Amino acid sequence: SSDIEGDLEEILLTEEQIRDRLSELSRVIEADYAGEDLLLVGVLKGAVMVMADLARELRLRVTMDWMAVSSYGSGTESSGVVRILKDLDTDLTDRKVLIVEDIIDSGLTLSWLLANLNSRGPESVEVCALLRKPQAARVNVDVKYVGFDIPNKFVVGYGLDYAERYRNLRSVGILAPHVYG
Ligand code: PRP
Ligand code: MN
Ligand code: MG
Repeated sequence: SSDIEGDLEEILLTEEQIRDRLSELSRVIEADYAGEDLLLVGVLKGAVMVMADLARELRLRVTMDWMAVSSYGSGTESSGVVRILKDLDTDLTDRKVLIVEDIIDSGLTLSWLLANLNSRGPESVEVCALLRKPQAARVNVDVKYVGFDIPNKFVVGYGLDYAERYRNLRSVGILAPHVYG
């Protein structure tokens, strides 16, 4: 195990659990989009790992594009006011779009993103998120593909950061309080 795993209080999801779940989700996504050209939209930076693994698992013709967004406001809570740091290169007109996210926490980022992408004339926009926290239920966004519903703990790894670190952990874990306390 890598040194940085010592900063975890608990491993929530192992590399194998993540791989198995992405494999299950991929079979469902393949059935839903059989014969279609699917555009995967990854949300930088957190979604990099799940995008890379999901895309390689999918036996479908896909294209991949990326958006970078930033929510205004400080601290660990997002404000729901989002600005685009890097927009898509792809025209969404009549496209089938699948947003790929690492985690839905408050749901505010995703809620804004869905409205934004839906305004561009796509045929459909759905969401695949590896992780979902309980408070995401408070915003009314329909997430079609969810990897794991997790408790409201500070999680890092597999793309998820604390102060830009821990994204390269292969597992998802709960950050030990001594790291940020
Ligand atoms: C994190 C995470 C999601 C979003 C979820 O991204 O990757 O994109 O927050 O939060 P929400 O549901 O409360 O809106 P972050 O803004 O930290 O940027 P990052 O992906 O670059 O880490
Ligand atoms: Mn993110
Ligand atoms: Mg982050």
